[in-house]
Amino acid sequence: MRMRLKQELFLQASITMLENDIPSTITIVRTISDVKNILKLWRNDNLNVGLVPTMGALHEGHFSLIKKSLSLSDRTIVTLFVNPKQFGRNEDFDKYPANELSDIKALENLSVDIIFAPSTEEMYPSGNITNISLPDIGDLLEGEFRPDFFTGVATIVCKLFMIASPDLAFFGEKDYQQLIIIEKMAQDLNIPVEIVGCPIIRSKDGLALSSRNVYLSDNERLVAPLLYKVLNEILDNVRNGEQLIKILNNAKIKLLDSGFTKIDYLKICDDKNLKELGNFSPNARILGAAWLGNTRLIDNIGVN
Ligand code: PAJ
Repeated sequence: MRMRLKQELFLQASITMLENDIPSTITIVRTISDVKNILKLWRNDNLNVGLVPTMGALHEGHFSLIKKSLSLSDRTIVTLFVNPKQFGRNEDFDKYPANELSDIKALENLSVDIIFAPSTEEMYPSGNITNISLPDIGDLLEGEFRPDFFTGVATIVCKLFMIASPDLAFFGEKDYQQLIIIEKMAQDLNIPVEIVGCPIIRSKDGLALSSRNVYLSDNERLVAPLLYKVLNEILDNVRNGEQLIKILNNAKIKLLDSGFTKIDYLKICDDKNLKELGNFSPNARILGAAWLGNTRLIDNIGVN
């Protein structure tokens, strides 16, 4: 456990919630004003702050971001908040697999400094109407299939940036479009935060870790790694100079023939503005979203 200032410990002790079964050494903050009070003390001591926003249901992908923050920041705040604004009407908000108690235990093992786990009312009190949206880039790829998703993501992340004023904030390349959108939002709104993109953590068989993988049946779980395999095959074929449209069509057929039930998109895009490319370029990213029964998987790979 790192050394803490007496003053800081005093404040933390006064706001740590000793709930049933929740380990007592971790600081769980529920209110925006408590986060700000702690931040004020850290700022007085010139400590730099890393923020890792999550919706809980933590796995090794999240832990990789948190470890990066712990290595680059004096203090790390992890947020656990299942953000209703980024879920569509027919999506899984009500059954999102977050388990606060096991997340808190895992975060305690990692020695994060603060968990910020606010209520919905704390983040969106009644009368709260302001949204942040990024037209164009937010309407592509995921945005085409989840129309309000990036408005929900950008709004909550912007609010977290305003609350925690982090020096660094950590996001996974797993959600590549989300990472690009947050970088753009921070730039456009002059938010003084450095966005740190972190590589995708995968299972041994290649499946990108995701909180939603628990929805997969045993059989679907066996088929799921094919998405990553197909992205790599697309890359090989592109490098061999084959026509992009043909490569992508063949890849879609392969996924559908192997058990995927629907392809939302499979595209080769510019890695900055995410516009679809007609010709291969070294600045390309290959991105896909596909359904296995009721579970939607997304994945992507860079070409370098
Ligand atoms: P969540 O899905 O919980 O993911 C939190 C962070 O973990 C995101 O930056 C995501 O890209 C990263 N992540 C998830 N799986 C990963 C993996 N296999 N490898 C590396 N990083 C991974 O993304 C969200 O929550 C929300 O949209 C949020 C940004 C918290 C806003 O509500």
